[in-house]
Amino acid sequence: MKKISVLFVCLGNICRSPAAEAIFLSLLETKGLKDGFIVDSAGTGSWHIGKKADSRMRIAAERRDINILSRARQITIKDFDEFNYILAMDDSNFRNILDLKKRSATSDYASIKKIQDFRSVFNEQEVPDPYFGGDEGFDYVLNILEDSVNGFLESIS
Ligand code: 4NP
Repeated sequence: MKKISVLFVCLGNICRSPAAEAIFLSLLETKGLKDGFIVDSAGTGSWHIGKKADSRMRIAAERRDINILSRARQITIKDFDEFNYILAMDDSNFRNILDLKKRSATSDYASIKKIQDFRSVFNEQEVPDPYFGGDEGFDYVLNILEDSVNGFLESIS
């Protein structure tokens, strides 16, 4: 059977989207669904290409037994033809993804949505950028994402 492919996207691909990717992988593992999925993350920006996720996010995730192993990359136009779902962390990412798609005239293969469309417990309509804030911001992002990533999986199951 064809795997379902999911790409999480933020700005730098070192905080929010790597966390969403790792949370989703952990959830799939728990539910025994991992073999049915291809999961990745990317940034709209290029500053951090090749870097590990921000150590503050990796440490916060490790406290929840979630390992963030990804290396940053930038979204490319190929992603629009390869991923079933492209999930943006905030409105700005969402607009930038749609702009890139429009400029490159790719197919409508990917369903492009905001991850917070799948929230249930938290009311945040965007995943806040924790990069310039304190450590508590990273935990908050993980709380928000655990809710909405779970909601996303339920929506496609
Ligand atoms: P992310 O966070 O988009 O969640 O990875 C950021 C990481 C880096 C920067 C901004 C946001 N930056 O300006 O370098």
